[in-house]
Amino acid sequence: MLVMKGIVKQFPGVRALDGVDLDVRAGEVHCLLGQNGAGKSTLIKVLAGVHQPDEGTISFNGAEVRPGSPIDAIKLGFATIYQELDLVDGLSVAENIFLGHEHARLGFVNRAAGRRAAREVLERLGHPEIRPATEVGRLSPAAKQVVSMARALSHEAKLIIMDEPSAALAHDEVSNLFRIIRELTAQGVAVVYISHRLEEIREIGDRVTVLKDGRTVAVGLPARDTPTTQIVSLMTGRNVEYVFPPRGGREFGEEVLRVENLSSPGVFKDVSFSVRAGEIVGLAGLVGSGRSEILEAVYGARPHTGRVLLDGRQVRRGVVGTVRSGMGLAPEERKAQALLLDQSVTANITLGTLPGFARFGWIDRKRERDEAKRLSEMLDIRPPDPERPIRTLSGGNQQKAVLARWLLGGRKLLLLDEPTRGVDVGARAELYAVIHDLAKQGIGVLLVSSEVPEVLGLADRVLVLREGAVIHEGEATELDEHRVLDMIMNGRAA
Ligand SMILES: Nc1ncnc2c1ncn2[C@@H]1O[C@H](COP(=O)(O)OP(=O)(O)OP(=O)(O)O)[C@@H](O)[C@H]1O
Ligand SMILES: [Mg+2]
Repeated sequence: MLVMKGIVKQFPGVRALDGVDLDVRAGEVHCLLGQNGAGKSTLIKVLAGVHQPDEGTISFNGAEVRPGSPIDAIKLGFATIYQELDLVDGLSVAENIFLGHEHARLGFVNRAAGRRAAREVLERLGHPEIRPATEVGRLSPAAKQVVSMARALSHEAKLIIMDEPSAALAHDEVSNLFRIIRELTAQGVAVVYISHRLEEIREIGDRVTVLKDGRTVAVGLPARDTPTTQIVSLMTGRNVEYVFPPRGGREFGEEVLRVENLSSPGVFKDVSFSVRAGEIVGLAGLVGSGRSEILEAVYGARPHTGRVLLDGRQVRRGVVGTVRSGMGLAPEERKAQALLLDQSVTANITLGTLPGFARFGWIDRKRERDEAKRLSEMLDIRPPDPERPIRTLSGGNQQKAVLARWLLGGRKLLLLDEPTRGVDVGARAELYAVIHDLAKQGIGVLLVSSEVPEVLGLADRVLVLREGAVIHEGEATELDEHRVLDMIMNGRAA
């Protein structure tokens, strides 16, 4: 159905695509894999008419095509769900879904028809609770993803390109996404699927193309029959052991965080726990179980009742107070909440003054910069140019930079929400090691992740959440993935 040949795309100083080939068949799920910065998003933006290639050809159903703009691409029957969601926060769900479409063009007279059509698509996606009239800015990241998907479906596309669609989704929502993908492919629609979660590739993928440094290193491998180790070594050029650092070598100190009877009506209730210095505590649960909201409340960014004590002292409400008292929150929706896109990588990492770098009231800028550099090397942020505007980094590398900011010294407690989202398999291991190192230095860590193996592999103690309540608390070593999933999905006690 689609053949891309010898695609080259040069950005100032970076050859993002250096002769990429891709062929996609009707009715298949074609997975595009590669490390952060390999060129995946750039390649699909060429298809989507966002970037014009410098060289190479694209043919679609046998005819050569040149999508010169996003509208061209849509007319050809290509729909794209971008890694960075491109919804308009101030518009309603329905308006976003039909942006640039018939219903929208006919204006307010047809608002009712637009909403009806939007409701149909949302129902088909299994999300009748998302209301067409709601302003998109008020939705959760997962719900935004669904809206983005609804928009792609509303185009009646023949080729749907999904750039890390599952990154914002929880376990049950991923199954729903896969159900929709299967329906689409059964109708002959082709799907290009990008993800850093290799288990997903096996479950949904038919064939796999691997990119490395802007080149195709493997074309159309069978998704289910290619060993993960082979895929990983194609992606990274080395054998990565996808493992967590050993648990030993850390001592737990005094309690850094104590949370007592934390409640927020309709979101979570009566949550109590503590985190000791050097300890990693994980929160497992579905999207909507209150995980991220608990982190926000601890951080002082969400109204609640109950008490939060840092080093035995009650934390004042309001983020400024909590930052000063030594807490850092790496939020879930990092790009929207936390990036200065036009500033350099260093500026983004060192954003916000940290107590650890202040001496006699002055910030030690050099030390701060050196530390930023050390962290970007450790996390392998690419390209290794700290002065580059962060806008020009790939999605995963931006994620790493924002995380680096929170990992930069001088805190007592780190709240990490989905720290590995969008980060490739190679860099994950580095990130795990950095988190362990921080804990070793006596920092307390509170971690939220949708990936149960990550919570179990990284945390010392795990709290399992369901519908805003803690239904289990225990040592990570005494749990396994199956049991945790059973608890979070079915509410079954351990
Ligand atoms: N607008 C741009 N200007 C300059 N360089 C860019 C631009 N967009 C991407 N790049 C560079 O092109 C390369 C490929 O980036 P791309 O976003 O395609 O990677 P990716 O494979 O999607 O990675 P990730 O898994 O992190 O999303 C990177 O080196 C990136 O820094
Ligand atoms: Mg990308």
